[in-house]
Amino acid sequence: MGVTKTYIALSLLFCQGVTYGCETTCRNNVCDGVGNCTDGCVDGYWGPPACNFKCPVDCKEPNCIMYSGHCNSCKYGYWGDTCSSLCPINCIGRVCDKSSGTCTQGCTSGRYGDTCNRTCSPWCVGGKCDKQSATCFNGCVQNYAGSQCDECDSNHYGSSCSLECNHNCENSTCNGTTGLCTLGCKRSFYGYKCDRQCTCCPSGCDRLTGRCNGDCPVGKFGVFCDKTCNQGKQSPVPNTENRSSLYVVIIALCISLLINIFTIIWIFRNKACKRQDVNQEKKKDTDSISIPGIYDTAEENAGYQELGQLSGPSHYDHLHGPATDK
Ligand SMILES: *[C@@H]1O[C@H](CO)[C@@H](O)[C@H](O)[C@H]1NC(C)=O
Ligand SMILES: *[C@@H]1O[C@H](CO)[C@@H](O)[C@H](O)[C@H]1NC(C)=O
Ligand SMILES: *[C@@H]1O[C@H](CO)[C@@H](O)[C@H](O)[C@H]1NC(C)=O
Ligand SMILES: *[C@@H]1O[C@H](CO)[C@@H](O)[C@H](O)[C@H]1NC(C)=O
Repeated sequence: MGVTKTYIALSLLFCQGVTYGCETTCRNNVCDGVGNCTDGCVDGYWGPPACNFKCPVDCKEPNCIMYSGHCNSCKYGYWGDTCSSLCPINCIGRVCDKSSGTCTQGCTSGRYGDTCNRTCSPWCVGGKCDKQSATCFNGCVQNYAGSQCDECDSNHYGSSCSLECNHNCENSTCNGTTGLCTLGCKRSFYGYKCDRQCTCCPSGCDRLTGRCNGDCPVGKFGVFCDKTCNQGKQSPVPNTENRSSLYVVIIALCISLLINIFTIIWIFRNKACKRQDVNQEKKKDTDSISIPGIYDTAEENAGYQELGQLSGPSHYDHLHGPATDK
């Protein structure tokens, strides 16, 4: 209806100069020469130029802003410029801020957050918590702690905080997730959960390794002070690390022993062989000496030869010679 009238008005406008009566939605029936409502719209309508649009149905007041069509305020339970959104279901009284939709009168029980769309910790006593901080109003149920009751108290751990920290933890305090003792162990205990004992240490032991702090009492020794002096044989079974190094030492000793034995054998054999060689050589030497001995004796016998020569026939010949010559 209004639209067709506007259309007519606009057509006439473009046809220039022709004026008509104002739209019925113009307040007080006031408009300018081209049909624009100059005094605003009647209740329930908005829109330049001639109040042709109806105001949103969930505006609290019958009228709305002429130039935007926005509501001045909303009906109960709605929010937004045109009041087209429902307030969050967990707002107390379903009342919320017109422009942001946040709950203005707090949250229903067990809810928190601006729009009350978050749930308080199930471990809040009474289930109620602060709308902004989520802090439980009445503390936490058993085994739980923290302002929001979302962690285990210092003596419990596990996904439902039902496991007790080891009593050997210092102050029975452990990490709520892992159960590891966070303040260390009570005296004479060690390990992540302080479930091992170092009974022999006089001044406690290392939290992780169990090695004794300070000196051992008189008559005891070892990193755990568990060995008794003068009774070395009584020392406990060495751990695998010690044992493997012991094996290495034994093997090294065996090898060096073998090497020594072989070396000694070799030396002895060498010596024995040398001695044999020397004997043979000596024999050879005596042989070669006896040969020139013969020459020696021959030379010594040269006298005989000379004698032989003296008794040689030439002398006779020589003697005979002149004799026969005579
Ligand atoms: C009247 O309407 C026309 C067309 O929408 C517009 O251009 C003009 O500015 C309006 N005049 C007034 C006074 O609102
Ligand atoms: C709660 O609503 C806000 C927006 O208002 C949103 O960002 C958030 O994710 C919502 N939280 C939950 C748990 O639904
Ligand atoms: C253990 O708790 C006691 C009180 O219960 C306190 O005095 C002590 O300081 C705590 N120890 C540690 C290491 O926090
Ligand atoms: C507990 O242990 C976890 C994992 O190591 C760690 O992330 C957390 O910070 C610890 N909590 C405390 C309170 O020490």
